[in-house]
Amino acid sequence: MADNDISATERRKRMNLSGKHLLVTGGAGFIGSNFILYLMREYDNLCITNLDKLTYAGNLENLRGVENDPRYRFVLGDVCDRTLLQSLFAEKQIDLVVHFAAESHVDRSIRDAGAFVQTNIGGTLSLLDAAMNAWKLDGGYRADVKFLQVSTDEVYGSLGKTGVFTERSPLDPHSPYAASKAGADMVVKAYHDTHGLPVCITRCSNNYGPYQFPEKLIPLMFTNCLRKKPLPVYGDGLQVRDWLYAEDHCRAIERVLLDGRAGEVYNIGGRNERTNLQIVKTIIETVRRLHDPSVSEALITHVADRKGHDRRYAIDASKIERELGWKPLVPFEEGMERTIRWYLEHEDWLAHIVSGAYEEYYRQMYGESAS
Ligand code: NAD
Ligand code: DAU
Repeated sequence: MADNDISATERRKRMNLSGKHLLVTGGAGFIGSNFILYLMREYDNLCITNLDKLTYAGNLENLRGVENDPRYRFVLGDVCDRTLLQSLFAEKQIDLVVHFAAESHVDRSIRDAGAFVQTNIGGTLSLLDAAMNAWKLDGGYRADVKFLQVSTDEVYGSLGKTGVFTERSPLDPHSPYAASKAGADMVVKAYHDTHGLPVCITRCSNNYGPYQFPEKLIPLMFTNCLRKKPLPVYGDGLQVRDWLYAEDHCRAIERVLLDGRAGEVYNIGGRNERTNLQIVKTIIETVRRLHDPSVSEALITHVADRKGHDRRYAIDASKIERELGWKPLVPFEEGMERTIRWYLEHEDWLAHIVSGAYEEYYRQMYGESAS
C-alpha cells in the first residue's frame, strides 16, 4: 500500500503501537484471545507476553494461530504472583499492560466469591505494584507507558426502564463479581491519584463472538439448541443487556491504548439493547436457518431467577466516540451470524470444553448434564 493510501488514523496507529511490548493478562480467555489475535493481525512490529493462569476459562486452543509466532509468548502464571510479575517486568521492557485476567462469571461469584476477590482485586493490586516499580523514574514514570484496566458496565449496577450509564454514574455493584471489579477499578484509580501512575479504565457492556466460554448466555443457548436441550431463561427473560461484538471491544481498547488520557474512564457499548428472550429467539432462528430446521422455541424453559439479577444495562459510549473516534463496526445481525457460524464450524472446540469440570458445574447449576 502506498503511504498516501494510509489514513491518518492508520498512520498514527502504526507509529504508536509499533515496536511496543504489551503484557496482556488473561489472554487465553474469551476477549483476551480475541484481542491478541486482532493485534497480531493489525501490527507487524509489536510483541506480546500473554500471562494466564489457565483457569477453567483459559484455553490455549484459542491462540493456536499465533503460538509459534516469534512476536508472541505465553507465560503460565497467576496475576497474584508478585515474584513472577517482577521477573516478567525485569526480563522485557514492558511498555503497556492490558489487564483482562479475572474471574468473569456472575453465577459462579454468587456460589463462591473467594476467587473473585483474590484475582480481581488482589491480582490487580499486584500488577499495579509491579508496573509502578518497573516504570518508576526519578520524579515520574517512563514515557509512553500505560496500564489499561479492562472493566465492565456491571460496576454501575442496574438501570430502570430508562437512562444510561455514563462515566460519571456512581458505582453501585450488586453481584460479588461486579463488586470485585468495582473494587479493582477503585484501586487502579487510587494508583493514578496517589502515585500518578498512567492508567486508563474501560467499562464495556456484554460481549459476544468467537471463543466465548459456554457458561455465558449466547454460547450456552447455542450449545443447548444443538443438543435439543432446554434453554434455561432466568425469571421472565425480560432483563436487558447491551451487546457488542468482541472485536469492536478490542478496537476500542486499542484506541484507548493509543490515545486515552491518563486517569480517565471510557465507557464502551454497542447502543444495542436486547432482552434475554430476544437474544435466545435470535439464536434459535439462526440455528434453524443455518443448521437444523427442527430446533424450536419449545425448548425455551423459564427457570428460577439469578439472585440479585440486574434488570437493565445500557452504556452511553459518547465519550470514546467523541474523544477517540471509536464506533462499533459490526451490526448485531451480522455479528450474531458470524458467531453462530463460528460455533458451528468449531464443534470440536466446544466438545473439548463441554466435558469434565464444566459438566460438573453445569449439573450443579442447572440440575442436569450439559451434554
Ligand atoms: P474469561 O473468563 O473468558 O477469561 C478470563 C481469563 O483470565 C482466562 O483465560 C483465565 O484463565 C484468566 N485468569 C483468571 N484468573 C487468573 C489469574 N489469577 N491469573 C492469571 N490469569 C487468570 O473472561 P472474558 O469474558 O474474556 O473477560 C475478560 C475481561 O473483560 C474480564 O476482566 C471481564 O471482567 C471483562 N469484561 C468482560 C465482558 C464480557 O462480556 N465477557 C464485558 C466487559 C468486561
Ligand atoms: O455486562 C458485562 C458483563 O457481561 C461482564 O462483565 C461479565 O464478565 C459477563 O459474564 C457478562 O455478564 P452477564 O451476567 O450479563 O452475562 P451472562 O452471559 O452470564 O448473562 C447474560 C444474561 O442472560 C443475564 O441477564 C443472565 C441471563 N442468563 C444467563 C445464563 C447463563 C439466563 O437467562 N440463563 C442462563 O443460563
